[in-house]
Amino acid sequence: MPKKEAQAILPAYPSIETLAPYQIGKPIEELTREMGVTDVIKLASNENPYGSSPRVTLAITQELDKLARYPDGNGFGLKQKLADFYEVSPNQVTLGNGANDILDLLARSFVGHKDAMVYSQFAFIVYGILAKAQGALGIEVPAVHFAHDLAAMQQAVVKNTQTKMVFIANPNNPTGTVLEIEEVRNFIANIPPSVLVVIDEAYVEYCPAANHRALLDEFANVVIVRTFSKAYGLAGLRIGYALSSESVAEMLNRVRQPFNVSRLGLAAATAAIDDTAFIERSNQLNIEQRRWLGSQFDALGLGFIKSAANFIMVEIDNASSINQALLAQGVIVRPLQNYGLDNWLRVSVGTPEDNLRLIDTLRSILNNDAL
Ligand SMILES: Cc1ncc(COP(=O)(O)O)c(C=O)c1O
Repeated sequence: MPKKEAQAILPAYPSIETLAPYQIGKPIEELTREMGVTDVIKLASNENPYGSSPRVTLAITQELDKLARYPDGNGFGLKQKLADFYEVSPNQVTLGNGANDILDLLARSFVGHKDAMVYSQFAFIVYGILAKAQGALGIEVPAVHFAHDLAAMQQAVVKNTQTKMVFIANPNNPTGTVLEIEEVRNFIANIPPSVLVVIDEAYVEYCPAANHRALLDEFANVVIVRTFSKAYGLAGLRIGYALSSESVAEMLNRVRQPFNVSRLGLAAATAAIDDTAFIERSNQLNIEQRRWLGSQFDALGLGFIKSAANFIMVEIDNASSINQALLAQGVIVRPLQNYGLDNWLRVSVGTPEDNLRLIDTLRSILNNDAL
């Protein structure tokens, strides 16, 4: 049956018909397949360039003879570990197939199609996708200097009485901007307690100052979302989690799929959380390399946003053509047209070798002007 006809017979929910899907960072295998480039580096998805803790490998190996069995659908061991780590009850922890699964569960549990969700311009694009998926009103509040404008967001929440959820990405992806705990505390204190405040701390291990765990004890309407995909180096296994009140966790638990975290994911995350030295080292290397990249962008005369995370947004004319030229040389970064940031690229902070290659390749492209 021709595609058009199928659409007419099976119309999707109206807001989904107009929904632009999430654009992932180009996988290395795809670039090789499409352009025949084999020596590829990927600086496009903010993964940990140093891999994951050796403890993860051991933990996974010990699970390999149990793969025929479903995982523990309640994630008892990992929840207990996270509960001890954050000094909360295991009943306040929800596990997900990545933080994205958690964000999805939150939207599905608390936002209906006449409701509204508030988030900042240039905030993680998934928030807008969730609003559309729910058929809800997505209210995007203009950013100031690429950062969340909490005063304007507060006004938007108060003005739109149908607001059920507000997202704060801290540090924010793709801008790398960060909010102090006092600003966020003040924001929450000035919105109705019936609005759920989702603080997305996917990059918090790279920015300990963005740890707003304390707010969980102060406000019942706070949810903190985190992931093992970034500093823990487990993006391929898909494990994220939420810390919330017990009653919010109870709702998420009703909606989630029975086995939403895999056996290998549970084992890996439980082992990874113990290796604090690995996280500290990753953080330290990230700080050094982020600083180095900044100095190189300065030397190339490129503007960039000061970042608190493991990526940097860099301003560049002809970003789209530069991106293509980088791809042809086997360097994958992230174009940001879908954020309305046509003259910007986001680069993940890689290993010293990867960063050197990025800068050398970029310099030769810019000098050559061969676009
Ligand atoms: C701000 C933010 N939140 C959440 C996620 C989702 O991470 P994951 O689903 O891999 O845990 C990402 C990933 O890029 C992110 O940048």
